[in-house]
Amino acid sequence: MVIKMLELFKSIKLDKNSGAPLYMQLFNVISSMIDKGTLLPRTKLPSIRQMASLLDVNTVTVVNCYRQLELKGYVYAKKSSGTYVSTVLPPVDKKEYTNKYDYVDKNVILDEIYPGEDISILTSKIRFDKKTINFASATPSSNLFPVEDFKLVLNEVLDRDMGNAFNYQDSQGYRPLRFSISNLLKEHSVNCSEDDIIIVSGAQQGIDIISKTLLKDGDHVITESPTYRGAVAVFNSRRAVVTDVELEEDGLNLNLLEYHLKKHRPKLIYTIPAFQNPTGVSYSKSKRKQLVMLAEKYDTYIIEDDYVSELDFENKNFKPVAYYDKSGRVIYIKSFSKIFMPGLRFGFMVVPPHLKKHILGAKHATDISTSGLIQRALDLYIRKGFWHKHFYSMYETYKNRYTKVVNSLEKYKTDNISYKKPGGGLNIWLKLPYNCVVNSLLERAASNNIVFTPGRIFFSSTSSNLNNIRLSFAAVEDDKIEAGIEKLCKLI
Ligand SMILES: Cc1ncc(COP(=O)(O)O)c(C=O)c1O
Repeated sequence: MVIKMLELFKSIKLDKNSGAPLYMQLFNVISSMIDKGTLLPRTKLPSIRQMASLLDVNTVTVVNCYRQLELKGYVYAKKSSGTYVSTVLPPVDKKEYTNKYDYVDKNVILDEIYPGEDISILTSKIRFDKKTINFASATPSSNLFPVEDFKLVLNEVLDRDMGNAFNYQDSQGYRPLRFSISNLLKEHSVNCSEDDIIIVSGAQQGIDIISKTLLKDGDHVITESPTYRGAVAVFNSRRAVVTDVELEEDGLNLNLLEYHLKKHRPKLIYTIPAFQNPTGVSYSKSKRKQLVMLAEKYDTYIIEDDYVSELDFENKNFKPVAYYDKSGRVIYIKSFSKIFMPGLRFGFMVVPPHLKKHILGAKHATDISTSGLIQRALDLYIRKGFWHKHFYSMYETYKNRYTKVVNSLEKYKTDNISYKKPGGGLNIWLKLPYNCVVNSLLERAASNNIVFTPGRIFFSSTSSNLNNIRLSFAAVEDDKIEAGIEKLCKLI
C-alpha cells in the first residue's frame, strides 16, 4: 500500500520551465488528488525529505506546498508525526488557483492611467497576450523579480524575529533598515544619517504625506510640463492650485519658474530631475543648483522625486538636487518600484530636520507604520548583498533594452520623428509629425499587437501638446524590440 502511494507521488510531473512556482504546481496536483478522492482522509503524505527526493525538488518547495495545503484546509500537521489529509475538505474553488499566474490586469500594464481616467480608447483595442509588444509599461515585468532571494530573507526574518515582525513598527521606519539605506545612499551622493530617513509605502505615499504636511486648500504647487500624473493627482486631492512650467532639454525653464514663484508664492515645486517621467530629460548641474537657490529666495520647498537616477547608462553622474541644498529646502523621495518589486510598496524620504516632526505626524496619521515584515526582510536583503546583485542584473537588462530601442529607432525612424537620447531611465519620448493623430496610431498599433502610452496623459488638460508618445522598455521582451519599433515607425 505504502509502495503504491510512493509510486503515485513519484509519477507527479512538475514543469520547471513553465514560470509557475513549483510549490504551487505541486499544490495543484495534490489538492486535485484530494478533491477526486485519490487521496483519502487521514492518508499520511510522504515526509518533506521523502517527497523532495521523489520529485527531485528542493525541500523548500515541499515545505511551501504543504503550508499552502494546510492553509487551505486540505491537510493538517500532527506534531512529530507528519502531514495528513484532512477529514473535512474545503469547498472547491478551482478559479482561485487556476491561471492565477497568467493573469495580468490591463489597467496595471498601462500603469500611468489613474482611476477615473477614460481609458476606453486603450482597453477596447488592446489585447494583452504573449504576442503583445509592450512599450506602455514603465514597471518591470514580474519575471525579473528576485522572488527566490526574497523568499530566503523572508523565511530567515520569520525564524529570527517571530511575532515581532508583525507588530507595529517605529513610524519613522525600522532603524536597522534606515541605517542600511543611509549606507546605500552614500553611493548616490546623498549624505544623511538614519535619523533623516523616513520609510514609506512607495514614493506615491511619500508625495501624499509631504503634501498633507505642507499644503492647505488653495496653496500653489509648481510642476514640470509634462509630468508624472500620480503626483498631480495628489496635489489636486489637497485642493492645491497646480501650475505647470515648461520643461526644457536641461530642466525647467527657470525664467518662467521665477515668474511663477514671484506671482504665486507656491508652497512646493515638484520635480523629477533624473531621466524624468515621461520625457527622459535630466537637469544640468547648473539648473540643479539654481533650482535650490530659487527655492531659498522664494521661501518654498522642492520635492525631488528620484525614481530611476541609478539607471544612468552613459555615466552622466549627476548629483541629486538634494546634494546642493544647504538650507533644508529639498525633500528627497526615492522609489524602488522600477528596479525592485513595485507590489512590495516600499520607498523612503530624506527630510530636512526642521520638517521631520511635522512629516512624521502626517505619516503616522496616514499609515501608523510601514509593514514590519517587509522592512525587516529588505534590511536583511541589503545586508546579505542581494540588493547589489539584483541591481546590477536589472541595470544590465535595462541597459541592453535601452540600447536596442535606440539602435532600432536610429535604423527605422523617418526624419519627421524626433527624440533626444536620455542616456538612462526607462522611457523614450518621441515627437511625431504634427499631422499624426495619436489616437488613430494607438488603435492601429494595438491591432498589430503593439502598445505605448500617448503623451497627452502627462500634460494638464489645457495643453495643446498632443503629438508625443512615450515608449517604455521596462517590460518589453528584448527579442521583440526591433520588430516592434520597425512596425511602429512604419505605422507612424
Ligand atoms: C516619477 C514617479 N514617481 C513616483 C512613482 C510611484 O512610485 P512608487 O511605486 O514607489 O509609489 C512613479 C510610478 O510610476 C513614478 O513614475
